[in-house]
Amino acid sequence: MLDAFGFKLPTEIIGAPGAARDLANISKRFGEKPLFVYPVQLADLAVTYLQMLKDAGVTVVAFEQAEPEPTIDYIDGAASDLKDQGIDVVIGFGGGSAMDLAKALAIALTQKEGIWMYANLSNRPPLPLEGAVLPVITVPTTSGTGSEVTPYAVLTKPDTQQKGTIQEPAIFPRVAIIDAELMTGMPSDLTASTGLDAFAHALEATINVSKQAPMSELFGKEAMKLVFANLKGAISQPNNMEYRQNMALAAALAGMAISHRGTTTAHAIAEPLGALTHIPHGLGVTISTVPVLRYTIEGAPEGLASLWREVCLGEKLESEGMEATAFVDALNALITEVGMNKTVETIIGKGKCQGLDERLIDSIMKFKFRPLKQHPVEFDAKSLRPIVRDIIWGSK
Ligand SMILES: [Fe+2]
Repeated sequence: MLDAFGFKLPTEIIGAPGAARDLANISKRFGEKPLFVYPVQLADLAVTYLQMLKDAGVTVVAFEQAEPEPTIDYIDGAASDLKDQGIDVVIGFGGGSAMDLAKALAIALTQKEGIWMYANLSNRPPLPLEGAVLPVITVPTTSGTGSEVTPYAVLTKPDTQQKGTIQEPAIFPRVAIIDAELMTGMPSDLTASTGLDAFAHALEATINVSKQAPMSELFGKEAMKLVFANLKGAISQPNNMEYRQNMALAAALAGMAISHRGTTTAHAIAEPLGALTHIPHGLGVTISTVPVLRYTIEGAPEGLASLWREVCLGEKLESEGMEATAFVDALNALITEVGMNKTVETIIGKGKCQGLDERLIDSIMKFKFRPLKQHPVEFDAKSLRPIVRDIIWGSK
């Protein structure tokens, strides 16, 4: 049977170094009063762009994001503070969580219920949106999340240590201003972990078995090639614009890939891992990917074998199992070379991981069973256990 294909991306992408200097003109397309959301860590950089907006006659409302991964209470509180300000458009300036916060506020500022009710959880559907939400403009300062081109916003619910995702076409950004100059300020470990998060998006969208999506596979394979070819250079030469631009393109391609065919098991593990340990998303995904893939080789080597041939341009080997192993080894070598070959224990410290394996498995099975089903091999609590232990403590 022939593969069906289709694609819809209502996001205008402007991907050029220096493009963010046109932010005021782009913002004015959507109204007079933007809300400019940025993380506190980027306050110095944000001041420059806030001043540019003011100099262009824009009445901008600045919102400094204090929480690295905003909780639903934080979002609802911010929305009630901002509701009477007459905001026309929300600008998300920063990494994934600033852009996700901008998207969440675009909903929270226009809808009646608390933001958690709009998350699409494995165990319940979201409330439908009523009327229009505010338009969103994204200006990423990292190259990894892909949030600049997705209809997703990840939320944290602290009382149940749970992460949930809003999946609404209405929050597809109207414009993504992808300015690689903004990415030169990223430290090497952030460049590495976000770049490998982009790789995981590309990989998971490509091997996802949930539906036909040849265009996602096309974007995913190209994004993986770009990460293999450019990540080390972006780290060793942080001001080299060619490497930064190629990583920005990889992140956007991978984001478009997951916007049409979502993530699978490494993300299903990394999200609850982040909620339980506060390990940043990109790092959690990076340390989860290889243990998941090693297990995948046993049950479904064919997809990974084809990536050995098509992404790594590797020579034909004796069996699919050997080709799949060669692909995973190549990825593991990249992860090691950029200093990301870590375990949960090496990140959060010895003695802080007691019982974490069972809590993590519980959380995955309770809240993330849907993305698990999209993986080429099936997982249950029993088969997850050795993988989760490998992620936490390393293979013995
Ligand atoms: Fe991710």
